[in-house]
Amino acid sequence: MRRVRYYENGGPEVLRLEETEVPRPGPGELLVRTEAVGVTLPMVRKVREGGMPLPGSLGGEVAGEIVAVGPEVTGRQVGERVTGLCFGDAYADHALLHAAMASPVPEGASASEAVALVRSGLVALGAYESARPAEGESVLVTGAASGVGHLAVQLAAARGAGRVVAAVGSAEKAEFVRSLGADEVVTYTDDSWGEPVDIVLDAVGGELLSPAVAALAPGGRLVAYSSGGGTIQAYDLLVGGKSVIGFQVARTARGRPALMEQWRQELWELFAAGRLRPRIHAELPLEQAAEAHGIIEARANQGKVILRPV
Ligand SMILES: NC(=O)c1ccc[n+]([C@@H]2O[C@H](COP(=O)([O-])OP(=O)(O)OC[C@H]3O[C@@H](n4cnc5c(N)ncnc54)[C@H](OP(=O)(O)O)[C@@H]3O)[C@@H](O)[C@H]2O)c1
Repeated sequence: MRRVRYYENGGPEVLRLEETEVPRPGPGELLVRTEAVGVTLPMVRKVREGGMPLPGSLGGEVAGEIVAVGPEVTGRQVGERVTGLCFGDAYADHALLHAAMASPVPEGASASEAVALVRSGLVALGAYESARPAEGESVLVTGAASGVGHLAVQLAAARGAGRVVAAVGSAEKAEFVRSLGADEVVTYTDDSWGEPVDIVLDAVGGELLSPAVAALAPGGRLVAYSSGGGTIQAYDLLVGGKSVIGFQVARTARGRPALMEQWRQELWELFAAGRLRPRIHAELPLEQAAEAHGIIEARANQGKVILRPV
């Protein structure tokens, strides 16, 4: 089979396409012939920043057909199309999934849409739920055109947020985020981000944390879920009684699988009702994994970037 790995840290150019044996599924695992693989900012950062053993594999959400079922797996058959998170080599034409965390590709969804919904959708919904939103509260989403952010904008609108503000890195993304249901669009460098909001869902972190906290109304909550790091001054929270809540989807997946399943159901239902539509920025073959990473490094994507191994 073909897979992409990296043997040194660096930019997209260090990604290598290679031939290797098709793995055999171990206990509790499924082997899937991958039709779509989600490319995410955390993987782009992992390749560039290092700190992980080399050679490095690239994980991510995949969708495809089950071609082999490992021992101790119940309720899954060869030939079924499933989607789920692959922790090993996801950038490959065959990938191993934990059966317990795989779910059927929803009816009417393409493999790319299923991939976008499964991880980015769960992060978006989990982050939003972490803020415990009340009906009619206003929401600002940073990184609003990203894989996660573009679904967060749609979810907030679908859930009845009073006002949805999309914050993006450049004005070229304004039309895109408006098409998702954003009422207002701001770019990070704007002098004002408009009227204060009840909830900020922050995908960016770093230097953006400070203006993001400033954008909160008194009593507002910021959900920090980005891999961008950053620092928040306690005094900025004290003034106005603001809160910061951290959210990590892997932690919920490990500790609260029933809640994850409930969120997955809600995502599937919103998709079936046409109220949540993953947008695909680019679909590229496996051998163009470097181009896919390049799009994300350039902060150019409007929606999800996908690899199509077959
Ligand atoms: N907590 C969790 O469990 C969890 C799980 C998955 C992902 N995440 C986080 O969710 C965020 C969005 O991830 P994603 O995979 O949806 O993103 P993505 O689709 O790869 O999109 C990346 C977008 O993020 C924005 N961005 C902000 N700072 C950036 C930087 N330094 N380099 C490149 N892009 C940057 C850019 O848009 P603008 O220029 O418009 O800002 C860019 O288009 C990331 O911070 C990621 O780490 C969290």
